[in-house]
Amino acid sequence: MANESKINKLDADMITLTRYVTERGRQIKEATGELTQLLNAICTAVKAIGTNVRRAGLINLYGVTGSSNTTGDEQKKLDVLSNTLFVNILKHSFTTCLMVSEEDEKTVEVDTCQQGKYIVTFDPLDGSSNIDCLVSIGTIFGIYKKQHDGPPSDKDALQSGRSMVAAGYALYGSATVIVLATCSSVDTFMLDPNVGEFILTERNMKIKKKGKIFSLNEGYAKYWDPAMTEYIERKKFPKDGSAPYSARHVGSMVADVHRTLVYGGIFAYPGHAKKPNGKIRLLYEAAPMAFILDQAGGKATTGDSDILDIVPTEIHQTVPVILGSPDDVDEYLEMVKKHRNKS
Ligand code: AHM
Ligand code: MG
Repeated sequence: MANESKINKLDADMITLTRYVTERGRQIKEATGELTQLLNAICTAVKAIGTNVRRAGLINLYGVTGSSNTTGDEQKKLDVLSNTLFVNILKHSFTTCLMVSEEDEKTVEVDTCQQGKYIVTFDPLDGSSNIDCLVSIGTIFGIYKKQHDGPPSDKDALQSGRSMVAAGYALYGSATVIVLATCSSVDTFMLDPNVGEFILTERNMKIKKKGKIFSLNEGYAKYWDPAMTEYIERKKFPKDGSAPYSARHVGSMVADVHRTLVYGGIFAYPGHAKKPNGKIRLLYEAAPMAFILDQAGGKATTGDSDILDIVPTEIHQTVPVILGSPDDVDEYLEMVKKHRNKS
């Protein structure tokens, strides 16, 4: 007979992502199980992408394909494979009617006979410039509902983040995690490679009120507006006797946002003189991250408005992004106000 006292409680009664979403679904009276099915499909896609990320160097998956995506970025082989995996797995999940991917110029409509009620927006492999040097990369997704019973059209994807049903990201770092935000909480699941499942490791995550880290590409400092310039100057040379903030920047949004969520602080990809609307895409990067941060008690703004309030006009539109601990984002917004009053 097994010595039960030696069985680790976590191992014997682990909460897998599948179990978690199934249990959550059961608690909602009107739930049909379609969202559970969709989240399970996303989980499978993440496992498949993660597996390829881990062995890319061994199976000739580094490097470029020779073509560019819709926003002009060079497409890496792993970008293309990740997109194909995500699209195919979702198509065959019978839960999705329309998809918006960073790697596809147009929306992807699912065959009528396989359609479900959800619209999924995603960046299958974020942080492409970090692939070949083995720095953390990730997958970002947002889930919306089609708001009518008719056939889907591009317009159905142009919903504000406020109407999102769930959002999340996968981080392929020193471990693989999925951070999933629903309307009730933000939870982290870590992949146990031995079991082949994502296991709940942190429930109901909350971001610190204020952090000690700023994160943005300082190489663009020359092009920043006076508000961002003064804000960062104050973080480096505080005038109130407090310690300066630390600078941390990976250059993969998923990794930078994950660190911000876990340690607190501020992450930014602001608009600047060369790119007034920044680089971060609203539908599949900014809005899902804003939804996650909002559920965790953080904030996400463009400087002008809350990211969750923006109704997209184009599927690949970009917006400035400043997100993180609420006090840090508020301090940045005060700086914006100060400089606006000056002009
Ligand atoms: P990608 O989706 O093509 O990988 O681009 C998005 C990434 C973000 O993860 C990151 O914050 C940003 O690009 C970095 O851009 P830059 O090199 O301009 O600082
Ligand atoms: Mg991206």
